[in-house]
Amino acid sequence: TPPDKIAVIGSGSFGTAAAITIARNAAKYDFAESEVKVFVHDEDIVVGDGVITYPHTAKLSRIMNDKKVNVKYLPNIDLPDNITAVPSMLAACVDATLVIFVMPFQFLKPVLPTIKKVISKEPHARGVSLIKEVHFDKETLKVNLVSTQIENGISHSHMPHNFQCGVLMGANVASEIASGDFSESTLASRFRTIGGDDLNEKTRLLLNNSNSFRVYHISDVEGCEACGALKNVIALGAGFVDGLGMGGNTKAALMRIGIQEMERFCNDFLSNVDRNTFQESCGMADLITTCIGGRNRKCGEAFAKHTIDGKPKSWDAIESELLNGQRLRGVKTSKQVFDLLQSQDLGSKYPLFTTIYQICYEGAPVDSIIDGLYIPNGMK
Ligand code: 13P
Repeated sequence: TPPDKIAVIGSGSFGTAAAITIARNAAKYDFAESEVKVFVHDEDIVVGDGVITYPHTAKLSRIMNDKKVNVKYLPNIDLPDNITAVPSMLAACVDATLVIFVMPFQFLKPVLPTIKKVISKEPHARGVSLIKEVHFDKETLKVNLVSTQIENGISHSHMPHNFQCGVLMGANVASEIASGDFSESTLASRFRTIGGDDLNEKTRLLLNNSNSFRVYHISDVEGCEACGALKNVIALGAGFVDGLGMGGNTKAALMRIGIQEMERFCNDFLSNVDRNTFQESCGMADLITTCIGGRNRKCGEAFAKHTIDGKPKSWDAIESELLNGQRLRGVKTSKQVFDLLQSQDLGSKYPLFTTIYQICYEGAPVDSIIDGLYIPNGMK
């Protein structure tokens, strides 16, 4: 197969960190073109402190190309020279054979038609989603995976091969990745083999850094993606536990029961999820790190403290105060999960998901999180 042309869609902190690893690999392997295009949802950056020498404000993409740093979302980390920041989706994706989706979910649907129009029609054209969300399809009453939405949005009905999309999920708190601390991640994909070329392994090599970002491959796309999204809900619960001033024992109980509900959910709503997936970085490890050091935990703690102090704050206010323009995912995911459970009358099988939803949306007291920490009769 011809060398991969790589486009990274998204330039938040994790997107930029991923793009850096990918660009280093693209420069190293002859099965990829060296240049990596990063789509930047452009914004004006106020320039100051002599770091940047533009008059007043400048576009983020321009700063990234001129100064080789993402001043807004990943300051102090140099971008390799072979990254090009591109503010046009069309220009970023034209003829791309490997598209990495790492933008907030709400931007995905509107851009799929553009990507479909311009990406390579070669059979090795493929995608990897890093978006940790899960959606409830109210028509089918089923889970609508992001990777499936991407596949359906990009595949051409008249072409012999469908566009395939895998996922990369793992214990990857963005700030720690940016500092270069060691972490693992899980690539889940079932890319077709073309002319003896194993596209799963090629993709893994492009995402991997054995010293600091070690990527393992599995084929359970559905389980991997569901874990990445569902654990954000449990992490809100971890934040509530912290806000209540409770310690590691309580949080460990929450994680143990949480991963059981995640697995139960996968068995109820997805097909062929592999039990082993929960032992991978995308499963247990992502749950642990997010419950300890993630943004969902942080916002959950703030929500709990404000509520307990009698000065409740909305999730939107907490998000904008604490996340510097980044989006909180767990709260919306908890509603998607709850709506799905309700639609099948399954809430009682999921006391923890249900309780977290009720605290987030229905004004249930924060300490009711403890009431959600049990395994219903007959479940294991
Ligand atoms: P948040 O920081 O959004 O809670 O998520 C962390 C994460 O997904 C780590 O892998």
